[in-house]
Amino acid sequence: MSTVLLINLSYVIAAALFVFGLKLLSSAATARRGNMISAIGMLIAVIVTLLDQAIVEFQWILLGVVIGAVIGALGARLVAMTAMPEMVALFNGFGGLASLLVGWAALYEHQLGLFTLITVALSILIGGLTFTGSMVAYGKLSERISGKPVLFTGQQVVNGALVLAILASAAMFCMDPADHTWLYVLIGLSFVFGIMAVIPIGGADMPVVISLLNSYSGLAACAAGFAIGNMILIVAGSLVGASGIILTQIMCKAMNRSLTNVLFSGFGSASSGGTAIEGEVNPIDPQDAYYILEAASSVVVIPGYGMAVAQAQHAVKELQELLEENGCEVVYGIHPVAGRMPGHMNVLLAEADVSYDLLLEMDEINARMPTIDVAIVIGANDVVNPAAKEVEDSPIYGMPIISADQAHTVFVLKRSMASGFAGIDNPLFFKENTRMLFGDARESLTQVIREFE
Ligand code: TAP
Repeated sequence: MSTVLLINLSYVIAAALFVFGLKLLSSAATARRGNMISAIGMLIAVIVTLLDQAIVEFQWILLGVVIGAVIGALGARLVAMTAMPEMVALFNGFGGLASLLVGWAALYEHQLGLFTLITVALSILIGGLTFTGSMVAYGKLSERISGKPVLFTGQQVVNGALVLAILASAAMFCMDPADHTWLYVLIGLSFVFGIMAVIPIGGADMPVVISLLNSYSGLAACAAGFAIGNMILIVAGSLVGASGIILTQIMCKAMNRSLTNVLFSGFGSASSGGTAIEGEVNPIDPQDAYYILEAASSVVVIPGYGMAVAQAQHAVKELQELLEENGCEVVYGIHPVAGRMPGHMNVLLAEADVSYDLLLEMDEINARMPTIDVAIVIGANDVVNPAAKEVEDSPIYGMPIISADQAHTVFVLKRSMASGFAGIDNPLFFKENTRMLFGDARESLTQVIREFE
């Protein structure tokens, strides 16, 4: 078998492993296996690429591998689960920067035709804007910079001019690639464009932006793949590009908003809006909560971002076991955008060994809600906010929610009356059948568990 054939065959196998791995990632039960299979595909791709291209300076590659592996291993160990979206933002950003550098490096390797020059320009443009856009997203999510949308008069005009300048410099670069002036202009403008594209978007929408930037990092890699004529980079880049945009769509749908609305509406810049809420807040203490739970025969746990903050997942599992021993049926209602990243709640509950079969999706749990004795809302707020159904001028009006308010009794575990990510009040806390169990979610759960014991 010729070397070329062997290399191409290996690339096809690697690509098939990527696709198969992605398929397995779509369910929590098979996700780890999917990740492993895709990683094996990537290992094959890397080894074959190293053998394929006559790369001489292996010591640099080795150095890169060691540095990357150390950073990756430290990140995986040290970064808190709640900081995962920030970490993904950094990964996307550096992915974009890598594509920019690969595209740039291609200029020194070959005599390039027009098509390849266009792909070089694209990898630089998309890679550059992904890099700076991701850094801004990282800053907003980690609260290193303000999460408020930055809006100013004439913003559209400035952005329009920027796009025209980018197109012009890309064209100039393709016409005369030997003169690097236009290359540097293009790099600079793409960096500025990334910043300008993300600053008008509020912190609340950063997870969607990160998913979109993830898609862009894939497209940048794809363009870089064309620039250096590497098939596996084209395939992997397209897969990342496509899956990122699908995830973005899923997130927008779960919030009942369009991508255009997320990108251009400056959501979160205005104060909450909505009408004044009527009703009283009824606090409850752990002992009374225990009495109600002890008599319950069906309980649904609705986790949200606060569960991640309190790291309450193990306490939740413990309470679930005590309730089950008491003859109560316990299930979990999972909203697609609960927390701060897709699958956030699933990951945390999996960490506490909660069975996947108990995790019900929004539609399924909503159908059962009127028959549920107690809904325990743990650190969730926006995803159970009935204003999404009842208050027409609410910013989240139309967003599908978990109808916790329809259970016979609702416990809400949170520290205060503070609003959630969308920054709006929640009429659920004022409903007659709602009891507020104030305090850190883990503390409150521990106290209820103590009552059981
Ligand atoms: P949020 O609406 O953000 O509410 C979280 C609540 O947790 C807060 O009200 C907070 O109240 C409480 N909390 C914080 N720390 C706590 C602790 N230690 N113990 C107990 N409670 C604590 O969360 P959610 O309901 O999960 O909604 C997610 C939001 O993020 C939605 O607006 C969604 O659109 C947005 N979003 C999510 C995603 C993804 S992919 N998940 C993507 C884009 C946007 P206190 O401060 O009073 O305790």
